[in-house]
Amino acid sequence: MTHPRLSLVLDTVPLPPEGRIVVFGADAGSDLGDLPRDRLDVICGFAPDHAALTARGYSVSFYPQDGYSAALVFLSRSKQQIRNCLAAAATCVTPGGMVYVDGGKHDGVDSVLKSLRDAVALSAPLSKAHGKIAYFAAAPQLLVDWVVPRLTPAPGFLTVPGVFSAEKIDEGSALLAQALPDKLPARIVDLGAGWGWLSAQILAKQGVESLELIEADRAALDCAQANITDPRARFTWADATQYTPTERVSAVIMNPPFHVGRAGDPSLGAAFIAQAAKMLTLSGKLWMVANRHLPYEDSLAVHFHHVEEIGGNGRFKLLRAEKPMTASASARAIAQNSGTAAQGAARRGKASRARR
Ligand SMILES: C[S@@+](CC[C@H](N)C(=O)[O-])C[C@H]1O[C@@H](n2cnc3c(N)ncnc32)[C@H](O)[C@@H]1O
Repeated sequence: MTHPRLSLVLDTVPLPPEGRIVVFGADAGSDLGDLPRDRLDVICGFAPDHAALTARGYSVSFYPQDGYSAALVFLSRSKQQIRNCLAAAATCVTPGGMVYVDGGKHDGVDSVLKSLRDAVALSAPLSKAHGKIAYFAAAPQLLVDWVVPRLTPAPGFLTVPGVFSAEKIDEGSALLAQALPDKLPARIVDLGAGWGWLSAQILAKQGVESLELIEADRAALDCAQANITDPRARFTWADATQYTPTERVSAVIMNPPFHVGRAGDPSLGAAFIAQAAKMLTLSGKLWMVANRHLPYEDSLAVHFHHVEEIGGNGRFKLLRAEKPMTASASARAIAQNSGTAAQGAARRGKASRARR
């Protein structure tokens, strides 16, 4: 596969014949076919993308090293994260090596290139396929004042640009923390733990003996690890939809993600619910918060015997589920549900044919 803009720019300014090339901002679906695979170091800390890129044969790292011969930066969603990546690229490439910057219009490429033009000798951009690519020669001090090292979203907590809710406590997590009982079960998992604010509230409750923070974003988990020094906490970098703890726990507490990249995807939250049920003992409990419009009750109903809404507001709902079903009971409930859905669809089809 070739990347429409990358192949174009490399015809004009080819890559150096040797040396490692660092790639920032790539995900599972990024087209890297124009680049020499064996020379790439792809910087990616998001577990599902990390796994997919590794499976495609790329060498994938969490953080860049020094001495690369060139860099490619795909723009991400967070403006500050982009600035950090560009500053890192300018520093970790040997002076004079090229930094290529690529982004779609929806990534805000125009405004990034405009700011870059004020700071570096940027090439004229090449436009293709609803995006632009441009390049500049690296030098270590070029973008040092672009670096946003740390943010302080709440007293005693640090984050870095790009992690979920980096600048403030998430409203949904705050609501969930308020609704938790004073005493919690002993062994708990926080699924999608982010930079650890919700986990810290959990650890402040009575009765907690251990808490496993499971998070796919390496940068967020590193922040959580800096934010929480409580010895009862354990930190696991993993795709929550694929990971099962070694022992079942008595509670899962979560504010699950509902976005994959830009697109809203309730199936991700549904996968978190299914995985939470697998992690719990048969008397285990799940507490979760979700945007009110997301249809998680259906997923909860096929994985738990008892589900109730325990509060929320106009934007968020708080749900508690108890008594996870065994895998076979859950499979029966899913089959029954899809049977009922199919019957419903057939009935609706018949009715609409009758109306015609
Ligand atoms: C809505 S946020 C909640 C974060 C944190 N609990 C808080 O209250 O700020 C969801 C978190 O899930 C993480 N996440 C997304 N996909 C994931 C996956 N497949 N496995 C584990 N964590 C994931 C995101 O990086 C994000 O930190």
